[in-house]
Formats: sequence, structure tokens, C-alpha cells
Amino acid sequence: MNLISHSTNSLSGDVICPGDKSISQRILIIGSLLNCSMEVDGFLDAHDPNSTLDALNKIGAEIRKKGQKVFLNQRNIPFKNPLSELNFGNSGTGARLMLGFISGLGLKTKLVGDSSLSKRPMSRVILPLKQMGVEIDCNKGTLPIFTTNSDICDNFKYKMPIASAQVKSCLLLAALASKNNISIFEPKITRDHTERMIEFFEGNIKYGNKNSFGEIELKFSNLVPKNYYMVPGDFSSASFIIIATIISKDSEVLIKNVGLNKTRSGLLEVLSLMGARIKIKNIQIQSNEKIGDIYVVSSNLQGIDVPEDIIPNIIDEIPILSIAAAFSEGTTKIKNAKELKVKESDRLHAISEGLNKLKITNEIFDDGISITGSDNQVEPEECINSFDDHRIAMSFLVSGIRSKNGVCVDNCNNIETSFPNFKDTMNTLGMKINEKN
Ligand code: S3P
Repeated sequence: MNLISHSTNSLSGDVICPGDKSISQRILIIGSLLNCSMEVDGFLDAHDPNSTLDALNKIGAEIRKKGQKVFLNQRNIPFKNPLSELNFGNSGTGARLMLGFISGLGLKTKLVGDSSLSKRPMSRVILPLKQMGVEIDCNKGTLPIFTTNSDICDNFKYKMPIASAQVKSCLLLAALASKNNISIFEPKITRDHTERMIEFFEGNIKYGNKNSFGEIELKFSNLVPKNYYMVPGDFSSASFIIIATIISKDSEVLIKNVGLNKTRSGLLEVLSLMGARIKIKNIQIQSNEKIGDIYVVSSNLQGIDVPEDIIPNIIDEIPILSIAAAFSEGTTKIKNAKELKVKESDRLHAISEGLNKLKITNEIFDDGISITGSDNQVEPEECINSFDDHRIAMSFLVSGIRSKNGVCVDNCNNIETSFPNFKDTMNTLGMKINEKN
């Protein structure tokens, strides 16, 4: 499906942010381990969490979905080897976290994914899992991956070479499912939803700081079941609405119920340095996660050098930040972001190619990109390639707000992986996105 986004005058209104993709997947996994009856509200009913849900049901979990509500049932039988392969579609989080979980349970499985996921690096989780005692076979560090039995060691210590919440969570889940202790050292603080969820169910997580690496220690104890969990709104999805509002004229939008976990919402800090007018209202703690409403109005942004330390906390927002940079005054420089090359697409390349079509000056580096903003309405001569990547597709659709004759984006089907109502939500606020034949 190709979409076209037309020039927009102003955006206004209130919207409820769709459920968080990272947290929706984690609560299914940890909830299944708890083996209790639990209602999960605010679940993101999208392709990525749904593939994790299907995989869990194939290994014996009993999860039923009803729109944004999910019901986990208590089971009498333990987890079992699945009868068929586990397909994680486009979801790196699903594949990597479930690999840890399955390894901890010692199940015999085959994990597969779509063509994009099958190219993404899995050695980052396979190597430490092997060191923990898991037997894994794979296709040169990529999917398909085969797990057999495992004898996971206790008190495993791992110093992560890259800042990755997926690696950290994979190992925490392997330890949790195999009832072992583990210590993980991360080079930069990454999203901590897994740790917070373990704490919510009264597990024992300790944080330390050794040799400038952040340490996370899980001391195994059985988690305590609860009958309700509320998934906050997805900050990454909210970021498309935030930037759309900022770059359009005379706009004012309130995004309700957004997850504001510090390890995720670094974009707010970056936008504030750029001069954005954003207010946070109604802050609360819900299921051990900070949430609130984001009130945003049109703003004139200044280009900045994005602080390098914040990159792991804005990693998924860099495509849409690039669109903000494209309409800012001056140059925005993003460095230390090599990880963007191994996301759902090579995002550095995808961003640069899209910006070239919009005739926005940019320079791509090995670990980042610099973008010089323009006040002109963009006028691409051909469709932007989404590279089958949901965040690239949504980002360039947002750029249509500042276009002369619209911005067309090819192959937007993958928006379904994280924000199925994107088109309707944005159109309710005043954008004009429609299908293009
Ligand atoms: C995620 C972690 C991030 C992020 C991804 C979701 C998670 O990946 O890019 O979209 O849910 O843990 P890395 O941990 O590999 O950086």
C-alpha cells in the first residue's frame, strides 16, 4: 500500500496514544511465566506484539485477545515444545526476547521471521546465551535459529559490547525462566521496561555502577502474580504526533496517556534543546511506569548537535527527529548512532535517501547524519522508499505537512507492526493522508 500525505494548515485536538510495543511484548512473556489469571489493558493490537502472542500460545501459554485487552489464563500444564516453527514476522524484540525466554525454559524450537528480520544480527544474543549454557544453531548469526535443551549457569556475568535493551532483556528473561541469578553491565543506560516489570511483580533487581558501566543484577526469586497490568501509551508512536504538530502552523495537540519512562523519552530533552514548546501534564505512575499527557504546539526549531549520550534513549525516534531537523533553522548533527544501520532497515541510508528526494541537504557518516533545515515547502519528484520500515514510512508521511503537492511514500504496509491507526489518528488531527494507487 502506497500512501500520500498532503500539505496541512494546522493540527488540533486530543488523541489517546496507542499502547507501547516494547511493554506489550514484555507483559505477554513475563505474564505467561507467572502462570496466573491476569487482565492486560492498553495492549498494542499490532503485528509485532501479536506475533509474540502467537509464539507464546504455541509453547503452551493461554492468552486470549479482545482488542486492546488481553487475558492470560492460569494453566495446568507446563510450557512445551511447539509443534511448528515460531514466526516473529518483522519483530526484533519478539525474536530476541523470546529466544532468551525459550532458552531459559529449555525448549526445542525453530525461530523464523520475515525477510527484514532474517537479515538482522542475532549473534548479539546468541553468543552470550551460548556462554550461559544454551545450545543454539543458526544461519551465520541470523534467523532461522534452532534451540535444543539447555543447562543455564547460575551467576552469569555479562558486559554488553553494545547498548541494547533487547540483548539485556533476552539475558534477563533467560535467567528468570531458568531460575538463575545474573549480572549484566551495559555501556549506556537503555530502556529498562523489563527490569521495571520484574520489580512490579516483586522480583529482585539491583542497580549498581561499576567502571562507568551500569550494572543490573537479577537475584532470582519467584515473581508474585497480580491480576491486572496496564500498558502505557507508546512514546515512539507519540513522537510522530509531536513532530507533526511542531512543524505545522498554528497547531495545538494533547496526546494522552503517553509512557514517559526516562530511558525512552529522550526526544523531549532533544526537542527542548531545539526550542520546542512542549508541556507535560497529569503525571502518574502506572504499573511501575511513568505516564502523562503531552501538550505540544507549533514551534520554530533550531538545529543542534544531538548529545551523544542520549542516543540509546532516542534510538527509535531518530527517523522522525530527522524530519524535525529538515524544517529547523541551521544544522542538526546526529552521531554515535551506528545501531540505526541494523534496525528494520538501514535507517541512516533510508533517512538520507528520503531527505535527498525532499531536496533537504544532508550528509551521512558511518555513525550518523547531519541535516540542514529548510523553510521551503518540499516538492519531491518521486515517491519516497519506506524500505519496508514502519518508522521510515510514518516519518516521511509527516513531512508531507510541509509539502507543496504532497509526499508519497511507497509500501506503507509495515505501519501495521507498531501503529495500525496511524493514518486515521493523524487525519483526525487535521492531516490529509490517503491511499495512492
Ligand atoms: C527495543 C529495544 C531497541 C529498540 C526496539 C525495541 C526493546 O532495540 O530499537 O525498537 O523493546 O527492547 P535495541 O535494544 O536493539 O537497541
